[in-house]
Parts: sequence; structure tokens; C-alpha cells
Amino acid sequence: MIIHTIKELRELVKGWRKEGLSVGLVPTMGALHAGHRSLIEKSVSKCDKTVVSVFVNPIQFCPGEDLDKYPRTLNADEQLVSDAGADVVFAPSPKEMYGEGHILSNDFLTYVIPPYFYVDKLCGKSRVGHFDGVCTVVNKLFNIVQPDFAFFGEKDRQQLIILKKMVKDLNIPVEIIACPIVREESGLALSSRNKYLSDEQKKDALVLSKILFNIKACYNKGITNVSELVETAYAFLNSNHSLEYLEFRDCENLEEKKVADSDTIVFIALKVGNVRLIDNIKLS
Ligand code: PAJ
Repeated sequence: MIIHTIKELRELVKGWRKEGLSVGLVPTMGALHAGHRSLIEKSVSKCDKTVVSVFVNPIQFCPGEDLDKYPRTLNADEQLVSDAGADVVFAPSPKEMYGEGHILSNDFLTYVIPPYFYVDKLCGKSRVGHFDGVCTVVNKLFNIVQPDFAFFGEKDRQQLIILKKMVKDLNIPVEIIACPIVREESGLALSSRNKYLSDEQKKDALVLSKILFNIKACYNKGITNVSELVETAYAFLNSNHSLEYLEFRDCENLEEKKVADSDTIVFIALKVGNVRLIDNIKLS
């Protein structure tokens, strides 16, 4: 089933609530793949009812980013959602979410702004305002659905950490469930943006997981000095890669680590051609 309006979705959820059923929410931007599917299946196994939102959220794209060309595959998405056993796709229009004329600047729209310490680094550094857009839309989805549980992937680990912080700081009555990264057999983390990669670029994109797996192997052998671990990455990079960051940070508060330990996440972002890819791994 697919629902496009907030009113209809609220009615449906209200009915479930009356029956005492638990509700899970899986927020997505569509172009669904096996990574999204793992979140949906987790929700289906944990909750009586599951809502999957499909909404390419304009306010989390920065000027010059891929808002217009972001893949939109609603029919296939609806099929995947029902195959995975979820109950409804919520696919609102930008107008439904943000109102007539949807004037999206913060002169006209109330935003949820995450703490500066969490957004002045990693993806937030190059994607200024991105996490304001993410927190705002996820907060709206929480208010619309009022789920018991919401499911997010560790693939977007900075997003996950920021959303957990938002829920804690704003006392939002939802439990966030973190779901592990789903990868291709090659190691490449699944992403809707992988669709932009040519076959050749896909090979180049393997460098992200190769670097991360190698760092983890070095850490497991006893190397904990972060500079030394960063050094190991350079052997994998060539002129097809443009490294944006490779950073070691705490899994709860994103503080920088100089010595790696079991609370450390290694974050990487790089461009292959024009395609920006991210990945991360927890050392433990
Ligand atoms: P989107 O990129 O569509 O991702 C939706 C959810 O799927 C996120 O929680 C993301 O971390 C998870 N996901 C994507 N690829 C994954 C993979 N390979 N393994 C596991 N989980 C994966 O993230 C967003 O949308 C948006 O920012 C959103 C939260 C929906 C707000 O607009």
C-alpha cells in the first residue's frame, strides 16, 4: 500500500494504535536496495506494523548537489517494501511535507539544528547545512508517525550518531535501532548513489572498503597509533581517487582519536570521478 498524504497516514497509524500494535519507521530517500531492505526486515521482525517513508528530502541537499538527478524508482520501491513484509510506503510530495510554495530557507521554515560539534567535521564539513535538513525531516517524520522504533543504517554513521543525539536532547519518545552495513561480496557498501558509477569506477570504489578492512586488520595485529594506521591507506590510493577525509573518531561523541581503541570508528569519504562515496568501520 502507498500513501501520499500526512492525514491518511495518521488515520492508518491511529487505527493500529487503537489495536495496541507497535509501530516501526524506516526513513529512506528511495532507490531501495538490499541495505534498505535489511532495515525494513529488522523492523518487520521487531514491530507489529512497519512504515517505510520514501522522500527525497530537498532541504538536506546542498546547492550543486544531486537533488535533481537523485534516482527515483517508486514502483520498484513499493514492490521491495511489500516483498520485505512492511505494511505501507509513505511517499509525500515536497509540497505535502513543506507546504505551499515550500519555501525552504530557514527564514521561513522551522529547522532542527544539531550541535555544532557534531556537524563541523566529516560529511558536515563539506555538506554545510546537510544535517540540519536531515534532523528536520526525521523530526517531522517522527511527529507524523510517532513510531515506537526507528531504524537507521550504520552506513551513514555520522547521521546515526547525530539522530541519536537529537532524540536524547529533545526527549523524543522513540528508540533508534542501528543496523549493520550491508556490502556487496566485493566489500563495496551498498548505496543508492552506486547507480552513478560506471563498471570501471565501481572497481575504483572498492578502495574505500579495502582501506578500512586493512586498517582493521592492522589494528587487530596491535597497531593503535592513528598516524601509523592512516599511513597504511596511501598504498591503496591512485589518481582516480580524490580523498576527502580519513578520520578516527569516538563512536558516541565523534571526538578525535589519536590512539585507536575498541570505541573507535574509522570514517572515510572520497570521490571517484564526480561520485562522492562514504564508508566506515568500527574497530573492536
Ligand atoms: P537513504 O540514503 O535512502 O538511507 C536510508 C537508510 O538506509 C539510512 O538509515 C541509511 O543509513 C540506510 N542504508 C543505506 N545504505 C545502507 C547499507 N548499505 N547498509 C545498511 N544501511 C544502509 O539516509 C537517508 O536516506 C536520509 O538521510 C534520511 C535518513 C531518509 C533522511 O532524509
